[in-house]
Amino acid sequence: MRTLDSLPDLRGQRVLVRSDLNVPLDGERITDDGRVRASVPTIERLLGAGARVVVCAHLGRPQGAPDARYSLRPVAHRLGELLERPVGFCPETVGPQAAQAVDALGDGEVLVLENLRFNAGETAKDEQQRADFAQHLASLADAFVSDGFGVVHRKQASVYDVAALLPHAAGGLVAAEVAVMRQLTEDPARPYAVVLGGAKVSDKLGVIDNLIALADRLLIGGGMVFTFLKAQGYEVGRSLLEQDQVETVRGYLEKAQRSGVEIILPTDIVAATRFAADADHDVVSAQDIPSDRIGVDIGPESSHAFAASLGDAQTVFWNGPMGAFEMAPFAHGTDVIARVLRERTAEGALTVVGGGDSAAAVRQLGYADTDFAHISTGGGASLEFLEGKTLPGLDVLED
Ligand code: 3PG
Repeated sequence: MRTLDSLPDLRGQRVLVRSDLNVPLDGERITDDGRVRASVPTIERLLGAGARVVVCAHLGRPQGAPDARYSLRPVAHRLGELLERPVGFCPETVGPQAAQAVDALGDGEVLVLENLRFNAGETAKDEQQRADFAQHLASLADAFVSDGFGVVHRKQASVYDVAALLPHAAGGLVAAEVAVMRQLTEDPARPYAVVLGGAKVSDKLGVIDNLIALADRLLIGGGMVFTFLKAQGYEVGRSLLEQDQVETVRGYLEKAQRSGVEIILPTDIVAATRFAADADHDVVSAQDIPSDRIGVDIGPESSHAFAASLGDAQTVFWNGPMGAFEMAPFAHGTDVIARVLRERTAEGALTVVGGGDSAAAVRQLGYADTDFAHISTGGGASLEFLEGKTLPGLDVLED
């Protein structure tokens, strides 16, 4: 993979940087700016080299047309605060106004273009439509730097097609993320434990399948655990359940047993009467969830067992909260995992928190980025890497 060193003499050059600035917003307020902060070092390095930096990114999933709710303007503002220098914002992604704004840049100046996904060509399945949009983007620059690790699993114009049109390289963030992902997949220090949570097991089937061959222990919590409990023959009340995945999950449980991988499931569950922070709730046996209850967190006995199982791990990958952590009464399981990972980090283990949601969860619970060896900016991207898939946005940087 080409790195920034392969793009010498950037002074005066227009460099298009694809960042992942897809941050959670509450109105115009950014609730977790982790991805903006993670994009700063590459942009700073390019500015330091005298480049004219044109940042492009997406926010949310607008439907290929402008939608004010998904404007990158507040994100550009935050980037300016973090860079401690003026950051221009162009309310157009490509077109005459964008071209004019780029032309007006001086050496060492930076501009953010409006949301890439306001243009249908960005995410088009049609190759020609995507190529046309990529051509417009490429016309704004002399070189391309891919630094949005969170989107490298997407075959989209600004991630994939544009790289073929310009001299290109991976930015520092993509290079660093890939180095960590390689550590997780090539000869990881053992014991290697993987903690998976979050709502949907169907999002994680591929990664579970691959990790059974790689990890020593798989700890499962979050909404997806109820499909596992069901596969073991237990009733799960009104908890999240993906009935159509029960058979597949049963197959994984058998495969894990054959491969000697330990799958650790909760033995107790916090079960609530409603999915609300003020709902009545009790700790119940995971094998006996009352029919009118919803599982909202792993129970204290399970948190204890999960912590014990992580106690000697030398490598830990964690994706997905253990419960509905956004409601304080149901954040305990997620908090315990974060606390144990902090301890493991201090002991020198490689602890990786994968994904936008998991990263936001640990920050919301008050943990610092330095409590973990690495917080990945990519949720889907890190899972697909661990699944062993070819990621288009990385593949295209190879040549
Ligand atoms: C993410 O949030 O995982 C990335 O920014 C990719 O966004 P997407 O899932 O909408 O493509």
